[in-house]
Amino acid sequence: MRIAVLKELAPGETRVAATPETVKKFIGLGAEVAIESGAGEAASVADADYAAAGASVGDRAATLKGANIILAIQGPDPASLKGFAEGAWLAAGLNPFGERARVDAYAKLGIEALAMEFMPRITRAQSMDILSSQANLAGYKAVLMAASAYGRAFPMMMTAAGTVSAAKAFVMGVGVAGLQAIATARRLGAQVSATDVRSATKEQILSLGAKPIFVENVAGIEGEGAGGYATEMSDEYKAAQAELVSAHIAKQDIVITTALIPGRPAPRLISDAQLATMRSGSVIVDMAAESGGNVEGSVSGEAKRIHGVTVIGAKNIAALMPADTSALFSRNLFNFLSAFWDKEAGKPVFDEEIGNAVRLTQGGKVVNERLLG
Ligand code: NAI
Repeated sequence: MRIAVLKELAPGETRVAATPETVKKFIGLGAEVAIESGAGEAASVADADYAAAGASVGDRAATLKGANIILAIQGPDPASLKGFAEGAWLAAGLNPFGERARVDAYAKLGIEALAMEFMPRITRAQSMDILSSQANLAGYKAVLMAASAYGRAFPMMMTAAGTVSAAKAFVMGVGVAGLQAIATARRLGAQVSATDVRSATKEQILSLGAKPIFVENVAGIEGEGAGGYATEMSDEYKAAQAELVSAHIAKQDIVITTALIPGRPAPRLISDAQLATMRSGSVIVDMAAESGGNVEGSVSGEAKRIHGVTVIGAKNIAALMPADTSALFSRNLFNFLSAFWDKEAGKPVFDEEIGNAVRLTQGGKVVNERLLG
């Protein structure tokens, strides 16, 4: 079993899909590992570190030669994939809805594409979930980005020259990223409030010492929703939410928005008119900017000043902390492949629940029901 690890070529992508630690572990399972030269450079892992862990290091052609499993962070350009073994697997964050043409091309190449972001949200798959491992660190970094763009301090400070008041931070969407954003903003000394459509998050907000802000008298999502995810809300809910947010947001200094709905554009949570009510100098980080944005006017990869408010449209925040995010992503991939490793077959043999969820292509065809449906 030969595992190839590619260098990421997408602009701004700094992460790598294996670390010396996971290379050693794969070798321990009996696999050979080939690393594309320079793959770990931006994440502070030198070719020599991979070689010391037992991997071979070479150019893309040498890396892919005879590969049975290809590991990457983002889906590679199909045209760059040559020389791999028949029926090879590609495990990465493949963005199946956004990069559908690539998925079709992987099928044509005879590759079995495994989309790690389609990992089911079940307890035994938690250690394989790239969305949570990356969102966790991104939630932390989003708050630091807000703090650094904010022209004031987060904590209350009593100084000889007078008192600096604490920043008020509001987190919208309390999933993995939102929970970490609440915890980070609290650690920095802000007064934190948060909201979500899933009522189960109320307890979590309180347990982190923040104030829950919830739409009352209109049904939200009780419990966890399908697979722990949110769905699109009713018009009545949206109107009640807009009213609640309008009243609250005018008093906030920092807003972190994280709301996503799988396979759909991100819900619009803050309108231009609401932005206009915020104090000049406030900062918003829109973590959903790449999925269409929670904030009207936000642009992924840009910081804009709108009505005196700095609106930062996030773009691949995980790539800003490549050493840690790569380590976690690599472990997610190792945990996924090793959990199903069949010693006799010398390769992973997936069970139906997880295999069918992540497998996009097989036998030259697109087979995933989320893409066919
Ligand atoms: P996500 O990234 O899909 O969305 C972020 C948050 O935005 C969610 O909490 C969602 O409810 C919220 N949201 C969506 N529409 C909204 C709206 N209109 N207004 C306000 N908030 C809105 O969610 P994420 O971070 O992936 O987590 C969702 C749940 O899945 C969590 O309960 C998490 O603990 C669970 N989970 C379970 C895993 C497992 O068991 N393996 C792994 C990862 C997460």
